[in-house]
Amino acid sequence: MTSQNRELSDLIAGIGSGRVTRRDALKRGAALGLSVPALSMAMKLGETAAQSGSLEIFSWWTSPGEAPALQSLFDSYAELYPDVEIVNAAIAGGGGGPAQAVLQTRLQGGNPPDSWQTHIGRELFDGYVNAGFTEAINDLYESEGWLEAFPPALVEGVTVDGNQYAVGVGVHRGNGYWYNREVLANAGVEVGETLSFDEFVAAADAVAATGVPAVALGSADGFVAAQYFENELISAVGPENYPKYFSGELAWDDDGARAAAANFAKALEYVNEDHSALPWSDAVAMVIEGRAAFNSMGDWAYGEVVAKGAQDVVGWVSHPGTAGSFVLVVDCFTLPVGAPNAENAANWLKVIGSKSAQEAFNPLKGSIPARLDADLSGFSEYHQWSGASFAADALLHSAAHGQAASPAFKQALYDAALAFLVSKDVDTFAMTLVDAQSSEG
Ligand code: BGC
Repeated sequence: MTSQNRELSDLIAGIGSGRVTRRDALKRGAALGLSVPALSMAMKLGETAAQSGSLEIFSWWTSPGEAPALQSLFDSYAELYPDVEIVNAAIAGGGGGPAQAVLQTRLQGGNPPDSWQTHIGRELFDGYVNAGFTEAINDLYESEGWLEAFPPALVEGVTVDGNQYAVGVGVHRGNGYWYNREVLANAGVEVGETLSFDEFVAAADAVAATGVPAVALGSADGFVAAQYFENELISAVGPENYPKYFSGELAWDDDGARAAAANFAKALEYVNEDHSALPWSDAVAMVIEGRAAFNSMGDWAYGEVVAKGAQDVVGWVSHPGTAGSFVLVVDCFTLPVGAPNAENAANWLKVIGSKSAQEAFNPLKGSIPARLDADLSGFSEYHQWSGASFAADALLHSAAHGQAASPAFKQALYDAALAFLVSKDVDTFAMTLVDAQSSEG
């Protein structure tokens, strides 16, 4: 080792152990004749190498497509903090119902993980911020330049009283309709740029006549029926009216909401019989494997397509009647009050909020990066389509994924939609939601 190298490695170790301050490091670096970029790199290495201990990350990313995407975030973190042990505390269950129940128990018992997955909007605000479970992370928004890096809708979705409480990692589009190209071709069906509800019914009749279920449904996950209905609502009432049901300006038993429920009932005529036993990802697998024609799903379905290398097999269009709308399902992570490893947790947020981690994660997850400066040119055709929709279409918050309504209303919607799968009773469905809305403050 040359003496210059030795001094440099001493310098890095010194920064790492906290013996050398940033100021001294700058002086000693200059004396060694180091350029400013080389010096910043040395400081970064010193600082990151200093981190140890563990980092417990809580999510519900366990499906064949979700797990590798989560791993890519862990990999991005491990590149900078190789000595931190990452504990993957994911709990299975699409849409996060089971995970969220466990998390509430942990939070109420004063036993938070180091960071957890949630959605922007009401889920974050009502479930965690207002309950006092999350720290404000304004300092990270400033140091990382996130106020400029994220679109206004995403910053707003994590802000309460001027303080930010989470950082977005990806933006899912909740109103996708995925199809198997060959199954449709065998039924003589062609899907164009958009699909109306009537075109869907004609296509579904043609597929059903070939003996294959036209619609794959995996309703074992609580969110699936609710999400199908919210997409029918957008289709029936349009993007301008959809938010008015959640604000109470429109009533859940009006003609629009009833028409949406009736269309949902019609679509249910085409689903696989075993739907209540299947999670969402098994329903996507039915489409990938040619055992059904269509599946209505947020674009985490594309994560399954990527994981199975089925990009040429599966096509997509907006859920019938919802072209022109982009249903926002934005995954974000928090900094808990009393995080066991607060510094590791803050570094986790910095990593997942970075351009490079988001460019690695989102191609696998099916979402587009939450950052505006991410480069989509190397992403799939689907991602570019979704990116164009995000830029041009009406952005609507999902209720099935907790953004548009309170946790209590979301639960009422889940229960009502699950019951509807069996009863197809529009009146009861509408009245249940009217009651749930009347309990909202
Ligand atoms: C999350 C997605 C996840 C999906 C299915 C949604 O609530 O936002 O990231 O893939 O649930 O589990």
